[in-house]
Amino acid sequence: MQTKILYTVQDLRRVRISLNGTLGLAPTMGALHGGHLSLISRARAECDHVGVSIFVNPTQFGPGEDFSRYPRDLDRDLRLLEPLGVDVVWVPSPEEMYPGGFQTWVAVENVSAPLEGAYRPAHFRGVATVVAKLFNAFTPARAYFGQKDAQQVVVIKRMAKDLNFPVEIVVCPTVREPDGLAMSSRNSYLSGDARRAATVLYRALGAAKNQFDAGERNAGVLRATMLATVADEPLARADYVSAAEPDTLEELDRVREGTLLSLAVRIGKVRLIDNLILR
Ligand code: PAF
Repeated sequence: MQTKILYTVQDLRRVRISLNGTLGLAPTMGALHGGHLSLISRARAECDHVGVSIFVNPTQFGPGEDFSRYPRDLDRDLRLLEPLGVDVVWVPSPEEMYPGGFQTWVAVENVSAPLEGAYRPAHFRGVATVVAKLFNAFTPARAYFGQKDAQQVVVIKRMAKDLNFPVEIVVCPTVREPDGLAMSSRNSYLSGDARRAATVLYRALGAAKNQFDAGERNAGVLRATMLATVADEPLARADYVSAAEPDTLEELDRVREGTLLSLAVRIGKVRLIDNLILR
């Protein structure tokens, strides 16, 4: 099957109508890595057709964030997609996605506020808006997201439910490098000592999980352990550490099976996030 590369909403609609059966969508911002490829393979296994979007969404970046330097290499991305049996790749321009006079936003209120939302105030409004537009354009039966962006998953599930999108949100496990670093397009900003220091996120989560496995249930103790692990890494600075209820993202006093541990850490100018669900 020949993958169709499309640029306009009109072309995407025309092709979508010709595809009978279920479509699985993997929304991406390009700079594809093993995490994205796992979403696409899962969509391929579970759906009749697979769509991938590649769009570096300007509205989810705040002032001073890395929108302009975010890695972009469409040829490489298309090469990586070639063997995966993708039916449609949609690569809209910013003007196609946000036509002149654009003024309609999707804001998912409470679950967008803490954690990432506290540090990136308009981020989830941008994510929810673009994902709603992707759902309208592709009309997928299933949409595939990585657990790595745990809060994004919570926001999108809430949005899909609240706005009656007839789509199943499928959450795929975080894919990690051999040393535990969660795969992310932003890892390409790291090298040398910074790359080594970046394993601190996984180490902090692991240290808290070990305490949980040993019977500790005080959320404050687990948060303190994560903070102490990050503080031990000279190149790292924590934005937040969290032990929260996985659907509402409310901070807990006591942790239990299913609690979401998460953290955001700056390694120099590079901001990384990671999380783990206690089991
Ligand atoms: O996770 C991402 O890459 C982005 O936030 C998404 C879902 C493609 C929306 O731009």
